[in-house]
Amino acid sequence: MRPLPKPPDHPLVRLSHNVDGVETSATIAIQDRASQLRSEGRRVFKLGLGQSPFPVPGPMVESLRAHAGEKDYLPTAGLPALRAAIAQYHRRKPGIQAEAQDVLVGPGSKELLFLLQVVLDGQVLLPTPAWVSYAPQARILGRRTRYIHTRAEDGWQLSPEALDRACTEHDGPYLLVLNDPSNPTGTSYSPERQREIAAVARAYGVVILSDEIYGELRFDGQHRSIAEDWPEGTILSTGLSKWCGAGGWRLGAFTFPRGLQPVLRAMEAVASETYTTTSAPIQYAAVTAFEGDTFPDWMVTYIEGARRVLARLAAQSAARLRAAGAQVAEPDGAFYLFPDFGPLRQRLAARGIHDAPQLCEQLLLDTGVMCLPGQAFGRPREELTVRLSLVDFDGAAALAQDAALAQDAAGSDALPAIAPVLEAIDRLCAWVVR
Ligand SMILES: Cc1ncc(COP(=O)(O)O)c(C=O)c1O
Repeated sequence: MRPLPKPPDHPLVRLSHNVDGVETSATIAIQDRASQLRSEGRRVFKLGLGQSPFPVPGPMVESLRAHAGEKDYLPTAGLPALRAAIAQYHRRKPGIQAEAQDVLVGPGSKELLFLLQVVLDGQVLLPTPAWVSYAPQARILGRRTRYIHTRAEDGWQLSPEALDRACTEHDGPYLLVLNDPSNPTGTSYSPERQREIAAVARAYGVVILSDEIYGELRFDGQHRSIAEDWPEGTILSTGLSKWCGAGGWRLGAFTFPRGLQPVLRAMEAVASETYTTTSAPIQYAAVTAFEGDTFPDWMVTYIEGARRVLARLAAQSAARLRAAGAQVAEPDGAFYLFPDFGPLRQRLAARGIHDAPQLCEQLLLDTGVMCLPGQAFGRPREELTVRLSLVDFDGAAALAQDAALAQDAAGSDALPAIAPVLEAIDRLCAWVVR
């Protein structure tokens, strides 16, 4: 063998330009921080990570058990029975015509969103506050992102005028990511606003990725999809993580309008070269969640219980925060609040707190309450907004207590299971006005 060259002076590895500076997702990082503080013996209130507090419904767990022996790779686009069940689930909504062939199953809707941005060209439009991972995914892929700021006074809803302006600044094509109900604000779009946005989207040929992962957790059960207004241009995203409490199962699905089949096929091709397919037992079990023209009774009981618990918690928390001086848009779904402590700016500034990251850090150190700064959701650093995940409680106990309340003729109103979150909110409120 000829003599080998002496080792080079360049470093062993060089990170790709796109991931330089990309950090672990804020929600995941905060979870590690909570565990560390707990191991130091501190009491920590985990209002950081947005994980469902509720258990996976029993019939789904049973179904997973029954399918544990399913060991073969499934088709990349998904188990045919699951694709059919998801299409049927979407067809429960008026104006949605999905068939099995329009559905792409993946290991979480987050992964599918990433794949979508791998295959689509053009600009990503993100109304803020936007879920923490949308912008980093775009950045990892070297995509152009345009934030469109919304306002608390407007219920954090994207306005048609702002969308119109964003579309005139650059040439298309565009992908607008709309999340309804929203993480982080818990607000949802009114049908009028959906129609106005759809009209602008249609005019500029904007594809909408409608992230409806919290749709079933709208408190009044009246979730409506913007796909009803812009069916040819809306991709519907759902999954098991939130309304079925199964984030760790990793199952999501996108449903495409027929005209966007080339997008589905391109994503399927990339998936086939990367993760191959989604876990087989999970897909079989997921059929149980989606199939049928309506939800079975056990699912109705589960979802309605979850909605009642979350609605009560959101209302009580929002009322306490408002009483402390924060501005809070009225939540109507999911498990988040996005208070703005701007009205208390002077008071906080006197304590050396001038921006949201400082606020979250000091709050954690002083009270053990963990939350995320609005900055992680695309808001300006100095804006005193934070996201609170109202999930640090025993969801199974809360569902049981809620069911008992419904039977209680004496009209008791107690739901002791949610007390830890209310205690965290009280600590936060006492701290801001200190
Ligand atoms: C708004 C939103 N979209 C998508 C996801 C990702 O969900 P999945 O577990 O399906 O990847 C989350 C999870 O937190 C979310 O909050």
